[in-house]
Amino acid sequence: MRLDRFLCEMNLGSRSQVKNFLKQGLVTVNGIPTAEPDMKIDENSDQVSFQGRVLDYRKYVYYMLNKPVGVVSAVTDNTADTVVSLLKEEGRKDLFPAGRLDKDTTGLLLLTNDGELVHRLLSPRRHVDKIYQVTLEHPLKASDLSALETGIRIGEERPTLPAKVTVLGENRILLTLHEGRFHQVKRMMLALGNGVRTLRRISFGGLQLDERLKEGEYRELTPSEIQMLKEAAGLQTGADV
Ligand code: URA
Repeated sequence: MRLDRFLCEMNLGSRSQVKNFLKQGLVTVNGIPTAEPDMKIDENSDQVSFQGRVLDYRKYVYYMLNKPVGVVSAVTDNTADTVVSLLKEEGRKDLFPAGRLDKDTTGLLLLTNDGELVHRLLSPRRHVDKIYQVTLEHPLKASDLSALETGIRIGEERPTLPAKVTVLGENRILLTLHEGRFHQVKRMMLALGNGVRTLRRISFGGLQLDERLKEGEYRELTPSEIQMLKEAAGLQTGADV
């Protein structure tokens, strides 16, 4: 990769700002000051520093966010804050959410720049598990439980896939889905004549929401979490994560 492109990808500035930094001698490659924007570097093995600070290049980055209410699962929005704007201090311009949680849904959302992983995790063919904590308007009846566990019609040609329900309290359940249709939990409850008061996702593709994260907080995934997601996505795993 060209040195100026590398420096831009590390969000040091625009191409012309980066060229100025190079002219000013602020950049070293393997300890040697260089002013050549078109110098070819190996971003995985050469050590590039800016003002003495080593720039840690990672092509792909992975974050889990505990999404708060009121934030939209999008990259940009005209009126509301977006999940991507919550990570603006990371200085990455290429992040996007893996799917959507409704504006009033909280909990686990993966943000990354790894398009292939997200594409696979969201593929309807892959049936990646999602676990939701749901507070309902009314308690579920025994017939509702068996309907959810068999599959119900929510206004589409195909009924929902069998879901797993764990009753946590009078109005509280854990619902495990193996698909991700639009507003799925709310539409399933509506089909049963019930309603959703609060919805919180606690697991996605085997990845568990880190309960130490307050709403609005995020952290990078650990290498083993990334590996687990890649396995859930049917991607080769190993030392490349
Ligand atoms: N199902 C919903 O209805 N909303 C969400 O945000 C996620 C799943």
